[in-house]
Amino acid sequence: MKRIVLSALALVSGCAVFAAGAAQQSASSAEQGIEQYRQMLGEGGNPADLIVMTGEDLWKEKRGPKKATLEKCDLGMGPGVVKGAYAHLPRYFKDTGKVMDLESRLLYCMVNLQGLDRDDIIKHAISKSGEYSSDMESLVGYVVDKSKGMKIEVPQSHKQEREAYARGKEIFFFRGGPYDFSCASCHGADGQRIRLQDLPNLTKQGPARAAYSSWPAYRVSQGALRTMQWRLQDCFRQQRMPVLKYGSQASIDLTVFLGVNAKGGEMAAPGLKR
Ligand code: HEC
Repeated sequence: MKRIVLSALALVSGCAVFAAGAAQQSASSAEQGIEQYRQMLGEGGNPADLIVMTGEDLWKEKRGPKKATLEKCDLGMGPGVVKGAYAHLPRYFKDTGKVMDLESRLLYCMVNLQGLDRDDIIKHAISKSGEYSSDMESLVGYVVDKSKGMKIEVPQSHKQEREAYARGKEIFFFRGGPYDFSCASCHGADGQRIRLQDLPNLTKQGPARAAYSSWPAYRVSQGALRTMQWRLQDCFRQQRMPVLKYGSQASIDLTVFLGVNAKGGEMAAPGLKR
């Protein structure tokens, strides 16, 4: 079954696909190459560091029609508390009666505290190639950086949080699109890869931790900080599904599913990716 899925992928994407065991040698030397590349880039510091600093400035700057900072924004640990917030998101928020991830929560704060325009923020949330990070990406970088080294603890105590997990799980295994793929077609078994990319088995704790803790990440190939919303949108594209709406309930539910599966992992984002 796995091989059938993977050979279908090779046809549709027109690129080399390796099943476990195949082309082991070239794949492992390529992995070493990527690791070396990462080390070389890492020596001068992660380019994400600059974006994190921009995000901190933005957090503290009076902006929007209400000329307010985001220092009263409650990311779940109390107004203005940034440290550790990302490791505990998505979570249920009483004031909105909803489970929200970091990006939908920042959006909520920018609209409600600063009076900024929701559609406008969403329109620019994902920076285009060659552009500097969007305000959203910079803010995400700042907040995520303040959870570095902390244990992932996406809460499941509220009923709505458990419902979000259940829906996220359903979406993860839901097959659709022209190739009848689900997330699990690519991320539900061990040892799969496309081109030189390992496809982590996101249903298992070890690989789920490694993946979740490394996003958001600075994407070297795109010269940009990419967020979890971007990661999921890009995988909807890999799945040949319609565009995943930014900040949608489905995107939040999937993030809950991934985050809970990664429970106990140690946050290492913003990381550095190919
Ligand atoms: C057709 C195969 C395919 C499908 C279907 C797919 N993905 Fe992916 N996914 C990939 C590839 C390829 C990568 C690595 C991309 C890269 O690094 O360039 C990836 C990476 C990821 C990562 C980051 C892993 C890491 O360690 O960096 C996450 C999280 C993820 N996918 C989640 C999902 C979810 C959730 C779905 C379902 C909505 C999904 N994927 C559907 C191919 C797929």
